[in-house]
Amino acid sequence: MLSKLEKEILELKKQKNALILAHYYEEGNIQEIADFVGDSLFLAQKGKEAEADIILLAGVVFMGESVKILSPEKKVLVPDLNAGCSLVDTSPYEEYKAWKESHANSVLVSYINCSAKVKTISDIICTSSNAEKVIRAIPKDKKVLFGPDKNLGKYLAKTSGRDMEIWPGVCEVHVQFHAKNLFDLIQKHPDAVVIAHPECDEEVLNYAQVIGSTSRLLNEVKDNPAKKFIVATEDGIFHQMRKARPDAELIQAPTAEGCNCNQCPYMKLNTLEKIALALKEEKPEIKLEPSVIQAANRSLERMLDISANRNVNF
Ligand code: 13P
Ligand code: SF4
Repeated sequence: MLSKLEKEILELKKQKNALILAHYYEEGNIQEIADFVGDSLFLAQKGKEAEADIILLAGVVFMGESVKILSPEKKVLVPDLNAGCSLVDTSPYEEYKAWKESHANSVLVSYINCSAKVKTISDIICTSSNAEKVIRAIPKDKKVLFGPDKNLGKYLAKTSGRDMEIWPGVCEVHVQFHAKNLFDLIQKHPDAVVIAHPECDEEVLNYAQVIGSTSRLLNEVKDNPAKKFIVATEDGIFHQMRKARPDAELIQAPTAEGCNCNQCPYMKLNTLEKIALALKEEKPEIKLEPSVIQAANRSLERMLDISANRNVNF
């Protein structure tokens, strides 16, 4: 049965012709009232193709910005504008730009977890679900710069065999997963399939049988008949995993001793109360300069082109 607050949100949604998109790291109650739940690529695509007048993005600010850049005519709401991301914080525009300029004739691939301004100077954007495809599309004779996530960058350099310059940003949540503690846990559960998000440290990824985006990890749990999984990503994803596989044992990968920090503090700023208020007041709204939207649109659209197997020239 729906609560009073949930009913109010659904009513507001109808009244205002709004669409709610939620990331897998949101609390289960938010995922349940969303029209679509997904990874960052899926949310950007859904936001772009939606017919709604208002898109409420239950996720972090860079995700709302991506929807706004792809659909400037829509009103994009994010329930709490403090929902940042450590990767955005560790790639300040001026320094990132100087880094790009110090590597002339390179192709700058930026992970979608970056600011709108960083997107304006990037040649192409990627997410963890299409990053390998994006790198493969870049001619071999071009130098690749990758940022801001160093762990995803290192992983891509390894899988693609490309020599890449990598910006040293990190996700403050995924770097908490602890390789030695994971090793010990695997000894206790040798029958478990270890799955990990590529933002984890290389030492953690070395123990994983499957590495991928949130949707890739969810699909593994859905499709793999194994009965036990050790999961190295943020704990919001467990909501869909448990729904899909009530028969399987899902074990959170360990962080360092005494640290219970496998939750993204930014994603978890969103609540049903804030969502209801945002729909009622039609704020906080994502606002970007038209020149930023225009310049950032190019790198995001190129990513969508590659995802849809359309040709992109570098
Ligand atoms: P996904 O694109 O895999 O959903 O990841 C987004 C993210 O912020 C991971 O920390
Ligand atoms: Fe950013 Fe990490 Fe949170 Fe994802 S989990 S939004 S990368 S801080």
